[in-house]
Amino acid sequence: MLIIGPPGSGKGTQAERISERLSVAAISTGDIFRAHVKGGTPLGVEAGKYMDAGDFVPDSVTNEMVRSRLSQDDVDNGFLLDGYPRTVAQIDYLDGVLAARELTLDVVLQLTADDEELVERLLGRARETGRSDDNEAVIRHRLDLYHEQTEAVVATYARRTILTRVDGIGAIDEVTDRVMDAIGSPGTAALVRAP
Ligand code: AP5
Repeated sequence: MLIIGPPGSGKGTQAERISERLSVAAISTGDIFRAHVKGGTPLGVEAGKYMDAGDFVPDSVTNEMVRSRLSQDDVDNGFLLDGYPRTVAQIDYLDGVLAARELTLDVVLQLTADDEELVERLLGRARETGRSDDNEAVIRHRLDLYHEQTEAVVATYARRTILTRVDGIGAIDEVTDRVMDAIGSPGTAALVRAP
């Protein structure tokens, strides 16, 4: 499955919980990039320039990284991709990777939340952890990119009728309950059909 949502909507928080409950590997492209940045690898040096500005890392870097991660054995029991795909071009690439491995997506979970609430959340995280892309100008740019590019990804999966949408506002446990309800019953009313 995939988890998609604007910056700060709780993708990483909920992905960790879903991964534990369903015993599937959670794969966050943002976390992989940050590990490379921390390790000072060439990929990290390249990616860090884009991440600090709140821009997407180029597909030439991101796609290959995802393909390589999905070739590892721990995805055989299922996987949860957090933060990928973010562009329609990345969907095309992922389709090819999954087809080559004879894998299919069961569900795409979208977390929704109001932009202003997300800015407040991420400014709160900035005070606690100092993540380099959590300052107001960069947060707003990340939100703009979500609306400009990633909403088209959401629309594509809605057309494929595998999208389920969950309100990401509320206590973390409440959101987890909503998520588990929604993904526990794909094929029901939780699925968003294309208009
Ligand atoms: P990434 O790390 O994926 O960043 P993001 O999409 O901006 O999302 P965040 O990690 O900020 O938020 P989240 O939705 O995971 O929420 P979280 O659970 O952390 O990507 C970083 C960068 O990497 C990108 O900008 C780009 O440069 C690059 N990148 C990644 N993928 C890429 C791709 N596919 N293509 C190209 N480039 C890519 O929670 C956020 C905060 O809110 C936390 O403090 C949390 O405790 C709190 N919180 C969570 N839930 C709640 C709740 N219900 N109520 C109150 N607080 C909450």
